[in-house]
Amino acid sequence: MDLDWANLGFQFRPTKSNIRFHYADGKWSEGKLYNTYDITLSVAANVLHYGQAVFEGMKAFRSKDGKVRIFRPDENARRLNSSARHLLMPEFPVERFIEAVKTVVRDNEEYVPPYGSGGSLYLRPVMFGTSSQIGVSPSLEYELVIMAVPVGAYYKNGIKPVEALIARDFDRAAPHGTGHIKAAGNYAASLISSKMAKEKGCPVALFIDPATHTYIDEFGTSNFLAISKDGKYVTSQSDSILPSITNKSLMQVAADLGMAVERRKVRIEELADFAEVAACGTAVVLTPVSKIYDGDTVYSYEAESIGPVMKKLYDRMTGIQYGECEDIHNWMVEA
Ligand SMILES: Cc1ncc(COP(=O)(O)O)c(C=O)c1O
Repeated sequence: MDLDWANLGFQFRPTKSNIRFHYADGKWSEGKLYNTYDITLSVAANVLHYGQAVFEGMKAFRSKDGKVRIFRPDENARRLNSSARHLLMPEFPVERFIEAVKTVVRDNEEYVPPYGSGGSLYLRPVMFGTSSQIGVSPSLEYELVIMAVPVGAYYKNGIKPVEALIARDFDRAAPHGTGHIKAAGNYAASLISSKMAKEKGCPVALFIDPATHTYIDEFGTSNFLAISKDGKYVTSQSDSILPSITNKSLMQVAADLGMAVERRKVRIEELADFAEVAACGTAVVLTPVSKIYDGDTVYSYEAESIGPVMKKLYDRMTGIQYGECEDIHNWMVEA
């Protein structure tokens, strides 16, 4: 495969195939590989009007030993099902999901970036309601598609911190709403805050708890994590944030490194007390945050690069993903 592996970025590009399953009459069909991205859909399909759509984001890596391994696919399977349950969509069996992911990775193996390029094969499972309907009700039929896109090293020239803006005008999720699941609509709702943050020069928006606007929730597409001045791993606990698989894994890595881990409500004013702050998620693992703006208040952290504690977490985590560190928790699954 003749791709410019060093400059892939994080953008859609077609690959050989995607796998699809259709749900009708109470059961999922066998999976079938498609060599097209097109789909025929009724304009009355549920997803277009009533938004039954949930998705996932996960990655496969070319390891040091040349094998391709997927990072914690069982976690994505379970989260997909948790999202589906909340929107009254059908669940997809975890083992079948893992097999489907393996199938699509194997069929697209030539698109898995080489070891050492810093890239990976990003996998995007998406499930949506396809029945034609006019009244509001759950779809009777659904499609589950898993596609694969090669993506590049996010940091080509070393890890660059970003600045964030606290979203004060709009919330991304309602209290007791859908913030804890990966519903497509959450992202539509967050676009306006991301746009406002970008207009103020900040690549990311930081959302606060929608009920009281007192605590830190999460960034637009990643969880919030901080290192306290006494070296603790601190991350927000909230009913309206997505349970990040990266965060869950980093908490384990931090514990493995002997760090204390605190998952708790984090007051906005506490931002003044942290030594390091980062956003964490599948796309980048860890993005250090150098400044957080909240009206006239500015919170500042380690400016030049990633902070020393975050760097340790980042190296261990990416080391596991690329097969450079021992995978003591058996997170990596051979494709
Ligand atoms: C809102 C939101 N929070 C957090 C995350 C990070 O989750 P994960 O680590 O599972 O990618 C994502 C990305 O999937 C997200 O969209």
